[in-house]
Amino acid sequence: MITTSEHIDVNRTDGVLTLTMNRPAKKNALTQEMYAALADNVVAAQSDPDIRVVVLTGTADSFTAGNDLADFAGGPGKAKRGENEIPPVGRFLQAILQAEKPLLAAVNGLAVGVGVTMLLHCDLVYASPNATFQTPFVNLGLVPEAGSSLLMPRLVGQQKANELLLLGKKIDAAEAERIGLIAGVLDADTLQHDVAQVAATLAARAPNAVKLTKSLVKHERDDVAQQMADESVHFSAQLQTAEFAEAASAFAERRPADFSKL
Ligand code: COA
Repeated sequence: MITTSEHIDVNRTDGVLTLTMNRPAKKNALTQEMYAALADNVVAAQSDPDIRVVVLTGTADSFTAGNDLADFAGGPGKAKRGENEIPPVGRFLQAILQAEKPLLAAVNGLAVGVGVTMLLHCDLVYASPNATFQTPFVNLGLVPEAGSSLLMPRLVGQQKANELLLLGKKIDAAEAERIGLIAGVLDADTLQHDVAQVAATLAARAPNAVKLTKSLVKHERDDVAQQMADESVHFSAQLQTAEFAEAASAFAERRPADFSKL
C-alpha cells in the first residue's frame, strides 16, 4: 500500500507522475510521513506501465528546506519503527538512487540540505531564477548525506563541492547552472509548465532506450550506495553529539550556533 501524506500532492498526467512537496508554512521541510509518501510513490512508479517519468517539485517560495529539524533527533516516526526497519528517509534515498525511470526536478525556490542532495539523483534539474541551493550540514554539526560527498565533487569538482559541503555556502540558480549542479534556469512563471513539457517529451520517447540511457549515464549506483551507508554511520553519530544539540538549539532560538567550547 502506498503511504499518503497531506503534504505530498500526487498528480498523474500523460505518463508523468508529479510529486509536490506542499508544506509551505514550514518551507516544505520533510517529515518522516512525507519521505514515506515520496518513497512509496517513486518505488511504485517503477513497476507502473502508465508512468514513464517522475517529477519532484515544491510549492510557494520553496522546493524544500530539507529534513524537518525537529524530526531529526528522532520524532514519533522513529519510536514506531522496529530496530532493523529502514527509516522513511533511507527508503526515499534508496528509491531515488535505484529508480530506473527518469527523475526530473523543478526547483521553484529555496532548496536546503536534502533539498539539494536529492537533486544529485535527478536526471534533469531545472530551477527558477529565485531558487537558492545550500547544504549546511557542517553548520549543523552534521555530515553530508544521500551520497552527496561522492556525487557533489564528481558533478561540480572538489573545490566547488567544498564551498557547498564544508562552508555551507548558499548559491543562486545562475551559479548552480554555471557549476553544473542544474541543467538550466527557466522563467519562474512557466517553470512548472516547462518542466512538465520536458517530462512529457521524455515520457513519449522509447521507454527502454530511455531507461538504458539513464542507467548507462548513472553507472555508479553501487559506489553511491556504499557511500550513503558510510555517510549514514557518521550522520547518525553526529546527531547524538553536543555539536548537533547546539546547532538545533540555535535554530530554534534563532541565534547563531556557538561551537567555541566544543
Ligand atoms: N525544519 C523544520 N522547520 C523548518 C525548517 C526545517 N528544516 N526550515 C524552516 N522551517 C520552519 C521555521 O521553523 C519556521 O517555522 P515557524 O514559522 O513555525 O517558526 C518556518 O519554517 C519558516 O521559516 P523561517 O526560518 O521563518 O523562514 P526564513 O525565510 O527566514 O528562512 C530558511 C528560511 C530555510 C533559510 C530557514 O528556515 C532555515 O535555515 N531552515 C533550516 C534549514 C536546514 O538547516 N535544513 C536542514 C539541512 S540538513
